[in-house]
Order: sequence, then C-alpha cells, then structure tokens
Amino acid sequence: MASITIRNLDDATKEKLRLRAAAHGRSMEEEVRLLLASLDSHASPSITQVSALLSKLPTGSLAGRHILLIIGGGIAAYKCLDLIRRLRERGAHVRPVLTKAAEEFVTPLSVGALAADKVFTELFSREDEHDVGHIRLSREADLIVVAPATADFMAKMAGGLANDLASAVLMATDKPVLIAPAMNPKMWNHPATKRNRVTLANDGIWFVGPNSGEMAESGENGAGRMAEPLEIVTAIEKLLDTKPKPLFGKTIVMTSGPTHEPIDPVRYIANRSSGKQGHAIAAALARLGATVHLVSGPVTIADPEGVSVVHVESAREMRDAVEQFLPADAAVMVAAVADWRTANEAGEKIKKQPGEVVPVLQMIENPDILAGVGHNKKRPRLVVGFAAETQDLLANARKKLDRKGADWIVANDVSHSSGVMGGDRNAVRIVTRSGVEEWPDMSKEDVAERLAAKIAAALQTIEV
Ligand SMILES: Cc1cc2nc3c(=O)[nH]c(=O)nc-3n(C[C@H](O)[C@H](O)[C@H](O)COP(=O)(O)O)c2cc1C
Repeated sequence: MASITIRNLDDATKEKLRLRAAAHGRSMEEEVRLLLASLDSHASPSITQVSALLSKLPTGSLAGRHILLIIGGGIAAYKCLDLIRRLRERGAHVRPVLTKAAEEFVTPLSVGALAADKVFTELFSREDEHDVGHIRLSREADLIVVAPATADFMAKMAGGLANDLASAVLMATDKPVLIAPAMNPKMWNHPATKRNRVTLANDGIWFVGPNSGEMAESGENGAGRMAEPLEIVTAIEKLLDTKPKPLFGKTIVMTSGPTHEPIDPVRYIANRSSGKQGHAIAAALARLGATVHLVSGPVTIADPEGVSVVHVESAREMRDAVEQFLPADAAVMVAAVADWRTANEAGEKIKKQPGEVVPVLQMIENPDILAGVGHNKKRPRLVVGFAAETQDLLANARKKLDRKGADWIVANDVSHSSGVMGGDRNAVRIVTRSGVEEWPDMSKEDVAERLAAKIAAALQTIEV
C-alpha cells in the first residue's frame, strides 16, 4: 500500500488537505489514505505527485458533492444563476434540470455555462432516455434542490405527478429533497398551497424559506420571497453534513465577551473584548454536536449558530447564569470578566457640579466565575479557562490552573501590540498540569476548531 508522511508536504498542500478532510469529516491521515488509494499504484508516490493530485481536486464545504438543481418557472429563477456559482465555489458539482416554464425565465445556455454541465429539460429525450435518464439523474445526486419551487410545482410534488422530467426525477428519487418556495404572498397563503405544504413536510421534504419582504413583480409585501442563494447554500451544507459528532449528548456551558460594570444608570466600566473568540468556540463545539449554553456579555457580533445564548451585562449576572447551567460535561470560560466593580453603584446619574471635586470610584472585587465553576460541587469533568495577560503569560497562566481549579488555561497575550483583543487572529498556549502546548498564530475560527476537537478528545478520554 502506498504511503506518504503528511509532515513532509508543503504548507499550501497541507492546508488543502486539511480543508478537504474537514469537509468530509475525516482525519488528514484518512483523507490522504483515500487519495492514495485512488492512485493506481502500490509504490509510494512523490510529494509532487500528491500535491498535483490535490491541486486538481475541489476543496470547500461541498467538495465532491453532487447536487441536482431543479429550476422551476418563477420570477426568482434568475437567483439560481448565483446559487449555481456559490455551490460550485464550494466544490459542489451542479447538474441543472429546467422545467418548461423555467425556460421562460432563464436560458439553458446561461444555466449550463455556469454549471459547466449539460442542462436537462426533456423527459422524452432520445439522447438521455436510452438508459432511463430520469432514474439515473435522481440516483447520481447526493441531494435534489428545487429552486424556485413554484406553487404549481409544489402542487405537482404533493400530488405525486410525474409528467415531465423534473417531477419524474423527484418521484424516482430516494435522496433528500430541499425546496426553496417562491411565490406571491396570496399564492403562499392560499388554502391549496397550505395543504400542499403540509403534505410535502409529511413526505419528508425539507424547506428553506420563503422569506418575507417585497415581491419583485408586484411590489406587494408578505411571505413568499425565495430564500437568498447563500441561505440555500447553508441549508444544503447542513443537510449534507455527515461529519462525526463526537460531542453529541454532551452539554457545555460557556462564557464570552466582556462584562459591563455599572457606575450609575448611564456609565459603566468595560474592557475591549469583542466576543469573537468565545463565540467562535461556541459555534465550533455546536458543530461537533454539543449542546452549548453560552452566557454572553454585551457584544456587537451575532449569536453563534446552533447555540442557546443568554445575554447578560455584569459579572454577577454572568455568574448567576452560568450556575443555572451546572451540572455540565465541560465549562469553557472565555469571557473577559471585570475583576472589580464599583462599590456603590449610584441609583441616579452622577451630576457634574461646577467647582465640585472629581468623584472617586471605590472598587470592590467581582465574583471569580472560573474559580466558582472549578471549585463547584457540580464541577464539570473538564474546566477550561482563558487567561488574558500582558506580561509573564505562562507564569500567570500556571498560577491560574490551581487557584481556579481549572484543567486547562488557554493563555493569550492581549498586550496592545498583539492585536488579539477585538482582532481576528490569536496565538494561544494551552497550559495544563502536564505541560504547555504552543499553537501558532492563526485565525480565531481556526483556534476555535482546534480547541473544540481537543475538548471532544478529552471528554472521550475522561469517559473511558
Ligand atoms: C412573469 C411571471 C412570474 C411568475 N412568477 C411566479 C412565482 O414567482 N411563483 C409561482 O409560483 N408562480 C409564478 N408564475 C406562474 C408560473 O410560471 C406557472 O404557474 C408555471 O406553470 C409554473 O411552472 P413550474 O411548475 O414549471 O414551476 C409566474 C408567471 C409569470 C408569467
């Protein structure tokens, strides 16, 4: 059996391999093994051969996936041109089928050019039906997408008709089907469409959209706008996600962002934490199947997908929310919690009086949320804390391990020159009782992916 040492590949090839492996939910070793198996050779190939092979293969979240795209006869058909482009960018192979009505809205020529494949339109095609083309089309796809799904086409699907290529393909398939309805709000809310929606949902058809908003053709408002191409892509990615879920059944409580400590009803003490790192970790853990309860301080970024979020302001609110989610399998405390708050929060805005002395803020210590979790009766099996330091990074992180009762401290340098606070990149060290792992500078998303994988591995080990 041919073999190759991943370590010896150049960085660009390794990155390609990593993306491809991640998209397929495989380890890099597994991915390279499958690639080598595709080379018709028992001799070990050269590094150049492997790099050349990888450069020819698509990468991206949908690499190697086959999507049969049925375009229906609605005004939103033009959006499918962009949809095809987005799917191909992610490595998918798109095979288009146009209904007769769809050809009134987009031409097979432009659809075919963007898909870089033949466009199928005819059920009774001498060319394609010698090997029962409609059956083959449905079987060769990983997923069938209908976009736009018109009221008429949904009715056909619900009624089980098969009198044209698109409907015959759908009747012949055993693959998942996703539809993106698009129609006038009156059509969407018509009792017949409502009945068809229920029938289709009961038949196991997946829906994306429709959205609410202004209709392109009539200027009317309401539900019926087709989901945007990127929303359809996300739905497709979810349906085709076969990645292993090593954290399925595990509950993880997390914190992220800064805290705001009130001085009076309008002023507060804060820090520069953006929540980007914590939110990215929450999303990465959720992608591995964990149930994530994220307690977020005030941030301006969106809630991470697939995560339940409680929004709080102060350290005390954050502590109370975290305690509600114990017991849990793991705690990952990323928030930059203010160490102190003002001793006497003013009930009214502190007024500036001419000639008066400047007010002096008396500070008291805030609850230590990480230590509270680390020494809790309901302590999770794995407690991970973050240490944001500007000096003596490792020494301070090591001290925190014991003081806070944590298993790992993720130490990051937040001095102004590092650009970590509020930035998009991070260079962290994982300090444990058995040593220090130094990770190179990478995007916060990559830190999140790697940490989530490490947490998954640790929880599996702890269980054994
Ligand atoms: C300009 C125009 C726009 C149309 N837009 C839509 C639409 O957005 N949604 C819909 O359900 N029907 C729409 N229709 C009606 C469909 O084209 C018609 O029902 C057609 O038979 C649907 O064909 P299909 O089943 O192949 O999708 C539109 C018709 C015209 C003339």
